[in-house]
Order: sequence, then C-alpha cells, then structure tokens
Amino acid sequence: MVKPFLKALAGEAVRPAPFWLMRQAGRYLPEYRKLRASTDSFLDLCFSPALAAEITLQPVRRFEPDAAILFSDILTIPHAMGQEVRFLEGKGPVLGPFDPASLQPVGGRLDSVYEAVRLVRRSLTDEVALIGFAGAPWTVAAYMIEGGSSRDWLKVRQMALGEPDGFGALIDRLIEATIDYLAAQVEAGAEALQLFDSWAGLLPPSGIRRWCLEPARRITAGLKQRHPFVPLILFPRGAGALAAEFAEIGDCVGIDTTADPAWAAGAIQDKAAVQGNLDPMLLVIGGTTMEQAAREILFTLRQGPHIFNLGHGVLPATPPEHVAALRRLVREVL
Ligand code: CP3
Repeated sequence: MVKPFLKALAGEAVRPAPFWLMRQAGRYLPEYRKLRASTDSFLDLCFSPALAAEITLQPVRRFEPDAAILFSDILTIPHAMGQEVRFLEGKGPVLGPFDPASLQPVGGRLDSVYEAVRLVRRSLTDEVALIGFAGAPWTVAAYMIEGGSSRDWLKVRQMALGEPDGFGALIDRLIEATIDYLAAQVEAGAEALQLFDSWAGLLPPSGIRRWCLEPARRITAGLKQRHPFVPLILFPRGAGALAAEFAEIGDCVGIDTTADPAWAAGAIQDKAAVQGNLDPMLLVIGGTTMEQAAREILFTLRQGPHIFNLGHGVLPATPPEHVAALRRLVREVL
C-alpha cells in the first residue's frame, strides 16, 4: 500500500487530504516541554538519537498525522561546519562569529541525525510517512551571517545584493552540504524531504530567483541523481507569486499564510502538489473560526494534489486540543 501522503506528493488528489503540521513537535506539547526541561541545550536533544526520535513520535501518537517530520533544526548544518550555535531561552538561536575561512566539511558530524531517522522509521506504521528536512541555503546563510534572528537582516541582504561573488561562494558550499545531508537522511529511511526557505521573502524577485530558486534547482538535481524517486517539498516563505516557479522544480510547494489557495490551485496544482496553508494563529484561536478557514482551504484545493498544513509552524501558545480538532476535521472532509 502506498501511504496517502506519498500519493499526494506523486500528484494524486487524495481525499481526505493528507495532514501534518510544520513544528508539530515542540513547545505547545507538555510532553515536549518535560523532555526539554531535562537538558539546557536544545542541540543536545537534536543530537541524541533516542530523544530526537521520541520527540518526533510525540505528535504522531497524539494526532495520527499522515507524516512525521524528523525532530531536528535547520542550524545543525552551520554547527557541523564548525560555527558555534546555541539556543538561548526566549531569544532563539545565537551563532558565533561568521568566518568563511574556518568553515569545515561536515564529515561524520551529523551521523546522530541519521541514527534518529533510522529509529523513527522503525517505529512508524504502514500509513505514516517520514519527512527529512534541511534549511535552504539562503535561510541558513541568513542565520550564519546575522548571528541569529534579526529585525531587518541588514548584513545578509547587504552581502547577497552587494557582494554576490563572495556570497555565492557560501551558498555553493551550503548547496553541497545540503545535498549530502538530505541524501544521507534518505539512506537512513526518510521517504520525502522538505527544504525550508523561511526567509525567501526578504529578497526582491531577482534575489529570490538567484539565491532561493537556483539553489533549490541544484539541490533537487543533485538529490534526484542519487535518489531518483524521493519527493521534494519546497517552502519558499514570502515568495509571493514566485512560489509558482518553485513548482517547476519540486514535487510539492508549501504555500505560506499570505498565499490565496485559489491562486495556488490555478498557478501550482497542475505542476506540483500544494501544501498548506492555515494561519497558525487560527489554530491558537480554534473553534468554528478555525474550522471554517480549514474547510475553505480544503474545498478550494480539492481538485488537485493537496497536503493540508499550516502556512508556517505551530505557535507555542497553541492548545493541543485545537490540533486534535483540526486533525478530526481534515479527516472528515471528503
Ligand atoms: O517541524 C517540526 O516539528 C520539526 C522540528 C523543527 C524545529 N525547527 C524544531 C525547533 C524544524 C523543521 C525546524 C526548522 C527551523 N528551525 C526553521 C524553519 C522553519 C520555520 O519555523 O521558519 C527555522 C527558521 C529554524 C531556526 C530556529 N530554531 C529558530 C528561529 C528557533 C527559535 C524560535 C523558536 O521557535 O523557539 C529554533 C528553535 C526550535 N527549533 C525549537 C524547536 C522545537 C524550540 C526550541 C526550544 O524548545 O527551546
């Protein structure tokens, strides 16, 4: 039997629509917070195969989504390249100084991530697919150069638009590392992959094409050379109408909160599956407000391949009961 999630990625209009949520594991779940309190280092969780596997499975047990996403982070790559990465309570990621000369090849430093993939895959049922992921080069480079989250992302935009040759050298290195990282996740048992380009929307259209679309094309080509059948989901958050161009490359395009599903049905669904795009705030609100919005998305995208998801990750303030209610609703809408 082919898993419903993989059928949708292959272009089938599966009903009920397959369901999973970005950041479905995380701080809104009490069982996550309990494990998280056992260490003061978030990266220790990511690099402990048993704990990462357990956290991956927490939302699977509660909500029975059609896919599990590996619990990890997009900043494992800069960490493995030798840049210091820490996560501070209430502040998010904080990275050490960016020094291109001291970046190293990743080597075996991400092996514990692949071990987590193996553990999760062994525990999943025949219906639930396992998604591996990486940050897209632009978004990862943004954190590496800014040293963390930023209000206006001045440094990285200045470099991308003002010093494209130097910036291109970093992007090239990240493309190579990302292909190796994702290929190894597939070899360990990941059945689909998602590339998170959370900050695509910081760039003008020419920048999105050069620093987001082109790297996505090269990563997809490199991966399909090694694993011809592995489906790829691209999530260029904030790319607006340019999201349609990602449908020429990926098997599925994740649309963000601002995208109109009716637009996506016409612009994307004949080329790729669409994933999305309930506003995470509606999942915090819950009730009929959430349910009506979810029904409308399902109705608008029903004629083509659609994977139900949010337009961005689950917010920490989300009541888990709202996720359970959303899961039930999506299962019932045919
Ligand atoms: O989706 C999942 O459930 C899988 C796990 C996952 C995490 N991060 C766990 C996490 C995934 C897929 C990510 C991706 C990620 N990480 C992105 C792309 C998606 C997006 O949200 O735009 C980005 C930009 C990051 C970088 C990152 N990691 C930031 C900015 C932060 C701090 C903000 C926050 O929400 O805390 C993190 C930390 C992080 N990654 C947490 C989790 C569960 C919370 C850390 C904690 O528990 O202290």
